[in-house]
Amino acid sequence: MSCLGWFKKRRSSKSKESSGRRGSTTTTVSAVSTSRSDDSGAVRPASKSTGSTSSHRSISSLYEERGHGQLRDFDYDELQAATNGFSRAQKLGEGGFGSVYKGFVRSSPADGKAADRLAVAVKCLNQRGLQGHKQWLAEVQFLGVLEHPNLVKLLGYCAVDGERGPQRLLVYEYMPNKSLEDHLFVRAYPPLSWNRRLQIILGAAEGLAYLHEGQVQVIYRDFKASNILLDKDFRAKLSDFGLAREGPTGANTHVSTAVVGTHGYAAPDYIETGHLTVKSDVWSFGVVLYEILTGRRTLDRHRPQGEQKLLEWVAQFAPDSRNFRMIMDPRLRGEYSVKAARDIAKLAESCLLKNAKERPTMSEVVDVLRRAVQSQPDPPPPPAAAAAASGKGKRVDVAPQPVRRR
Ligand SMILES: Nc1ncnc2c1ncn2[C@@H]1O[C@H](COP(=O)(O)OP(=O)(O)OP(=O)(O)O)[C@@H](O)[C@H]1O
Ligand SMILES: [Mg+2]
Repeated sequence: MSCLGWFKKRRSSKSKESSGRRGSTTTTVSAVSTSRSDDSGAVRPASKSTGSTSSHRSISSLYEERGHGQLRDFDYDELQAATNGFSRAQKLGEGGFGSVYKGFVRSSPADGKAADRLAVAVKCLNQRGLQGHKQWLAEVQFLGVLEHPNLVKLLGYCAVDGERGPQRLLVYEYMPNKSLEDHLFVRAYPPLSWNRRLQIILGAAEGLAYLHEGQVQVIYRDFKASNILLDKDFRAKLSDFGLAREGPTGANTHVSTAVVGTHGYAAPDYIETGHLTVKSDVWSFGVVLYEILTGRRTLDRHRPQGEQKLLEWVAQFAPDSRNFRMIMDPRLRGEYSVKAARDIAKLAESCLLKNAKERPTMSEVVDVLRRAVQSQPDPPPPPAAAAAASGKGKRVDVAPQPVRRR
């Protein structure tokens, strides 16, 4: 997926050039300058466009107050050992910011886990220079302060300025079920059931509502299927806060920024004007709703002309039309409620209104999705669970496993 703007271009991994710590200095987050340019995508407490009020608490001040103490400052050597030297075998994937590796670290009391070893995902930023650092800092500060069951948990970070240049790493709780993107679009994974799709998108909506309507308003700016990670129970967790911004404060209606994000997900009004509001995220949410219904990517160059842009294609199949069912993901094999699917499509249409002000708030979206979830009949228990309940057989892990990688 190509990205808008200048700083989400994919680059080849350089993580094998391990710098070690010899001759290096460790940088703690609180010691790092938090001055930011408007292009940074990072936290920006007060700017010409945002203004500020005396009661407004910025993310960076909240971070200094409480976030800082909660994150672990990892040793580079510990993360190198944890990932087997950032080995290819441990690599989970690579995004616009860098490569991600699975590893195990010592758990600390703050992790709240009894086990000695904790599974983690270590993200190594490829980008050198100030912008990479700013995205890393934004992620540390936002996730150091924000806490919600539908946001991925950042356990800590590592910053070393060594002989081979600066190294910036982030350490997250490990999400064993990859991302919504993998399960919707990668054929190696079993299809997601209708109920599970609804549960996942409801969780993602709750995460976004928390960002928009919490103590400090946060505009996420990168809502898309690949940033919705799935835990062992397939609960949605929003990840990647490198592009997040604080919302406008005082009398301001928007934040002015350089346009960044991902093609196919960014709101047209934001692309045209650079004016960012929470309603820009609501548009992206509408796009993902259609991805969930159709099992199609927002942009797919492998499809016939006329079907490559999802929003243009679905426009021919209005939610109340007779042919609406044509858009539904064939991998659902017809096992979904048509009424609920029409309701979700109508919700998507409202998120995708041209006039941003007419789009619903995320708590309104959550209400609609909750009703949709509640109206679903309970799925039958999986065979293993039924056997366990009747005393026959042992409990087994029924989470689907991939057959092959993309
Ligand atoms: N906490 C985590 N646990 C398990 N896997 C993760 C975790 N964080 C990221 N990954 C995996 O690492 C890969 C790269 O993720 P990353 O967020 O860097 O890129 P992306 O979301 O694919 O693209 P983009 O940079 O455009 O957001 C993805 O396959 C993702 O599923
Ligand atoms: Mg991501």
